[in-house]
Amino acid sequence: MKGVVCAGGSATRLGELTRVANKHLLPVGRWPMIYYPLQLLERGGVESVLVVTGKGHAGQMIDLLGDGRLTERGTDAPLISLDLTYKVQTQPGGIAQVVGMARDFAQGEKLVVVLGDNIFEQSQADAIRSWATGSDGALIFVKEVPDPENFGVVVYGDDGRVTDIVEKAGIVDTRYDSPPSNEAVVGLYCFPPDVFDLIVTLEPSSRGELEVTDVNRHYASEGRLDVVRVEGWWEDAGKHWQHLAEIGRLIEETGANT
Ligand code: G1P
Repeated sequence: MKGVVCAGGSATRLGELTRVANKHLLPVGRWPMIYYPLQLLERGGVESVLVVTGKGHAGQMIDLLGDGRLTERGTDAPLISLDLTYKVQTQPGGIAQVVGMARDFAQGEKLVVVLGDNIFEQSQADAIRSWATGSDGALIFVKEVPDPENFGVVVYGDDGRVTDIVEKAGIVDTRYDSPPSNEAVVGLYCFPPDVFDLIVTLEPSSRGELEVTDVNRHYASEGRLDVVRVEGWWEDAGKHWQHLAEIGRLIEETGANT
């Protein structure tokens, strides 16, 4: 399997902090934000990762991450050891568009996709590794949130399987006025190799993006979508500037990607 980190976008929610700086390079605890999703992929057994970044930010990203063999400054202790490849997304077009950019890179292998601003207390390594060896479908991760209107949320059928996913109810997905559940789909997705054939059939949503939620809905409709509930905390570090310091404190308390 291979990995993708989605690290594009203009990060307007972070206001002054991201006028010129790339959100994914901002400090969260002792590390730049993007180290955490990269470490998550490594712990899940991924060795080769495509980093997709926005235009204007690729240079700094490459300066920081280089070939992916990262050592701690001063001590040279190994931090992260991955084989990195880079691509530039010139127009923001949604997470599914970014995944589609990985077609040649994936070379027919399975793909683990993580959003560059999503940070987890636990690395989900067991779930990723068992999907990698035992599943021919997709795997998503969910977590209860107090503000489900800001996310994609899952709808379960009587048999406990996901029957539908609703992206930002009332805003992106207007079939619902309000979210039908408070179980948000987090920014970590495992896709089988046929994901690329599916992405080329997608139409842009009402916000003009190719939605990863539409990819996941397709797998749900085929009965090929598994769901794991995230244990421990999960944070979208791109939400608000105040949040960055809070997440830094959480990481100091519990660690990340444990
Ligand atoms: C994206 C996905 C959404 C998911 C969220 C997790 O939202 O579209 O389904 O719940 O990431 O962070 P976006 O960041 O594009 O608003």
